[in-house]
Amino acid sequence: MVVGELLEETDLVVIGGGPGGYVAAFRAADLGVPTTLVDANPVLGGVCLREGCIPSKALLHVAHLIENAHAAAEWGVTFGKPKIDVDKVRDWKQSVVDKLCGGISTLAKKRNIRVIQGVARFEDGRTIRVDGPQGARLKFKHAIIATGSRPKRLPESLIPADCCVDSSGALELATVPKTLLVIGGGYIGLELGQVYAALGSRITVVEALDRLLTGCDDDLARPLVARLTKQFEAVHVSAKLEAARRVGKEIEVAFTKGPERHVLKFEQVLVSVGRQPLTDNLGLEHTQVVVNDRGFIEVDATRRTADKRIFAIGDVAGNPMLAHKASREGIVAAEVIAGHKAEFDARAIPAVVYTSPEVAWCGLTESEARAAGRAIKVGKFPWGASGRAIAMGRPEGLTKVIADAQTNRVLGVGIVGEHAGDLIAEAVLAIEMGALAEDIALTIHPHPATSETLMEAAESVLGTAIHALRK
Ligand code: NAI
Repeated sequence: MVVGELLEETDLVVIGGGPGGYVAAFRAADLGVPTTLVDANPVLGGVCLREGCIPSKALLHVAHLIENAHAAAEWGVTFGKPKIDVDKVRDWKQSVVDKLCGGISTLAKKRNIRVIQGVARFEDGRTIRVDGPQGARLKFKHAIIATGSRPKRLPESLIPADCCVDSSGALELATVPKTLLVIGGGYIGLELGQVYAALGSRITVVEALDRLLTGCDDDLARPLVARLTKQFEAVHVSAKLEAARRVGKEIEVAFTKGPERHVLKFEQVLVSVGRQPLTDNLGLEHTQVVVNDRGFIEVDATRRTADKRIFAIGDVAGNPMLAHKASREGIVAAEVIAGHKAEFDARAIPAVVYTSPEVAWCGLTESEARAAGRAIKVGKFPWGASGRAIAMGRPEGLTKVIADAQTNRVLGVGIVGEHAGDLIAEAVLAIEMGALAEDIALTIHPHPATSETLMEAAESVLGTAIHALRK
C-alpha cells in the first residue's frame, strides 16, 4: 500500500503535541471524543517541554543554586568556587525533559489517543495528510491546529545564521562560551543570559528599545535590571545592531547606541528577538481558515476559525504566546467540539519571567491603565519591609496592586521578587473572581511569607498598610 492512500476516519485530529495540543487531545478524549494527535516530533510535549519552558527552568534552577551558594558568604556560610561539569548539567536538564515527555506519552496511551508522528497538511476542510514514518490520510469531523511558534530570525544581512544560535540552540548547552552576546532583552534573553552568566560566561545584552523587559511596568523591571547590571558585563539599551560576521573562532558584532559605535567580538551570539506563529506549510490555503497580517490564525471566543470544523489554539491563535494560555484554549476548544458550552474568557493571563528575581504580572499593567486613561489607584509594597524577604536575603522585591479608583476592583497586579511566579496565582484568582482590594486586604495571609506583600499592597490601595508609611 502506498503510505497515506487509505482514508481513515477520526472524530478529532489535533495537530501539534505541545501544551496546547496535548491538553486539547486529553480533554477531548476524556469527554469521549475519539482523538488522533499528530506531531512531527517523535517526542510529545512541544517546544515547551523539549526545548523551551522546561529545560530552561532546569538550567535556571542550577543557576539560582550557584548564585545562592555565592550569596551565602554574606550570611556566614562559604562554599568553594563551584566546579561545573557541563556534561552532567546537560544530563540533568535532559533527564527532567525526558521524565515529563515520557509522562505525556503514557497519559496519551492510557486515554487511547492515537498518536501519529509526521507532518500534517490540510488537503481540504475535512481531510488531512500526514507525511512521516507513519504516513496517513485522515478524514476528520473536527481539527485543532496547535502548531505553536518558532524563534524570529534576524535578516541574514544583519547576522548570518551560522553566526548565532536561537533559544533552542542555547538550551542544548553544547559548550559554555567565555563571552556571549544576547540580542534582545526580553523573556528568553534575560533567562538564558542568567543561566550562562552563572555557568561562567561573560554576558553582553543589546536591546533595541530603551529598556529591558518592555512588557511589564518599569518599576517591576528595575530590581531585576539592577541585579543584571552586576551579573552581566554590559547591558546596552536603545542599541541598533548593524552587522555581524565570523572572524576566526569569534563573531564580530557592530552596533550603534546614539552617537557611539561599538565593534565587539564574542564566542557565541544568542538571538532572542521574539517568536512567530507557525502556520506555513499547513495547507491552510485549501481551507477557509483566515491568517491575519501578523501571521496569527483568526479565531472566535470558542477558538473556532473561519472554517467551522477547524479550531486553532496557542501561539498560532494570537498573543500572549504562553503555554498556560494555550492549555486553557485547548480545553475550551475540546469542550466545544464535545458539544459543551465553553468560551475563552480569561480576565487575566499571568506572565512570568523566571529570572532572579522573578518578575510576574497579570491583568492590566499600570502603564496600560494610564495609557488607556483609566482612573486607577496603585498600591505598592516594597519587599524591604517584608520579614520573609529580608530573612531570605532578597529584599529588593516589589508588589503592586492596580485598582479601579472608584470601586477598588483589582485590575492588575505586578510582582518582582523571589518566587513571584508562584505568588502571582493568588492575584490571577483575585481578578478572575472580581475581587476588590478589600478582599485581598481582609484575607489573612501567613506570616512570615512573601504572599503578605500582596495583602499589604492591597492595603496600600486603601491607605491602611501596616508596614508602610501613609503618603
Ligand atoms: P520578547 O518579545 O520577550 O523579547 C524580545 C526583545 O527583543 C524585545 O525587547 C525587542 O525589543 C528586542 N528586539 C527585537 N529586535 C531586536 C533587534 N534587532 N536588536 C535588538 N533587540 C531587538 O521575545 P523572546 O525573549 O524571544 O521570547 C519570545 C516569547 O516566548 C515571549 O514573548 C514569551 O511569550 C515566550 N516565552 C515565555 C517565557 C516564560 O513564560 N517565562 C520564557 C521564554 C519565552
